Amino acid sequence: MIEVENLTKKYGSARGIDDVTFTVEKGEVLGFLGPNGAGKTTTMRILTCFIPATSGKARVAGYDVFEDALDVRKRIGYLPESVPLYTDMLVPVYLEFVAGLKGVDRRDIKNRVAKIMDDCGLNAVSKKYIGELSKGYRQRTGLAQALINDPEVLILDEPTIGLDPKQIIDIRGLIKNLGGRRTVILSTHILPEVSMTCQRVIIINEGRLVAVDTPQNLTYQLQRSQQILIRVKGPEKEIISELSKINGVSRITAKENGVNGINAYLVELKKDMDVGNDIPPVIVRKNWSLYEMRPVGMSLEDIFIKLVTEERIH
Ligand SMILES: Nc1ncnc2c1ncn2[C@@H]1O[C@H](COP(=O)(O)OP(=O)(O)OP(=O)(O)O)[C@@H](O)[C@H]1O
Ligand SMILES: [Mg+2]
Repeated sequence: MIEVENLTKKYGSARGIDDVTFTVEKGEVLGFLGPNGAGKTTTMRILTCFIPATSGKARVAGYDVFEDALDVRKRIGYLPESVPLYTDMLVPVYLEFVAGLKGVDRRDIKNRVAKIMDDCGLNAVSKKYIGELSKGYRQRTGLAQALINDPEVLILDEPTIGLDPKQIIDIRGLIKNLGGRRTVILSTHILPEVSMTCQRVIIINEGRLVAVDTPQNLTYQLQRSQQILIRVKGPEKEIISELSKINGVSRITAKENGVNGINAYLVELKKDMDVGNDIPPVIVRKNWSLYEMRPVGMSLEDIFIKLVTEERIH
């Protein structure tokens, strides 16, 4: 549904995005994850025909974003980073106005607005002017205008930013329900949001893609460069020095002191090394006692930090 090939955007001599390639399948919800200035908004603006790329190709539903901009725009709903809303319009009036602009059939506009207000939880503010709305309701209104023409593709730039926790849960639920029939790209800084709402994640940093995968696979991939937590009873210094000698262990750190002299240590392993069988014999040989040994999972947060600070996966 969305194909992006070697897309590059330069703002003068400054980097926007650099050689970005990815695809999004029909009905997929894709998370776009990256720190400030990574290039999320830039990519989204190109996909929604707001700015031209410097080089590369982007197609939405088979239409080129440069050559067939009108066809692309018709099929896309876009929630920009900051939604330009008309502050002196009533919420439903604004939505009717946008529906008209987006070519919704005149006879359908009233029904369509009613349905979208319902879906986006806007009925409580149907008599309010946009200028009076709280941040959360503004964001909902932004989402409603993106959805008003029932677009095949939705591009949501940080849909939950600035919302309170309750609103975040509501909007996430809403977005999750959008998948299936629609193709969705959403950008976010909030990492759990990605595992909750997206089937695939793209991680972008300094304009370049650093990883494309399912949230589960990303977790798995990095778990292989693992960490193991062990609980051992014995002299701390010696434990650290003996276990550090095992081939494949990159680092061992004392984590916490437990009761009865049973202390926890985090053993960090070199990538793709499995030392699970090598740890217990050392402990037994030294007459210490092993109380626990288990792999430590990494959250998407850990992975994200690791990816953007250390390495590129492909
Ligand atoms: N209009 C512009 N003129 C010059 N540089 C720009 C412009 N817009 C974006 N940039 C630069 O392009 C890079 C990518 O910015 P972009 O807004 O796409 O990042 P982002 O991932 O959306 O970040 P954020 O999380 O802060 O919204 C940044 O280095 C930014 O300074
Ligand atoms: Mg942005």
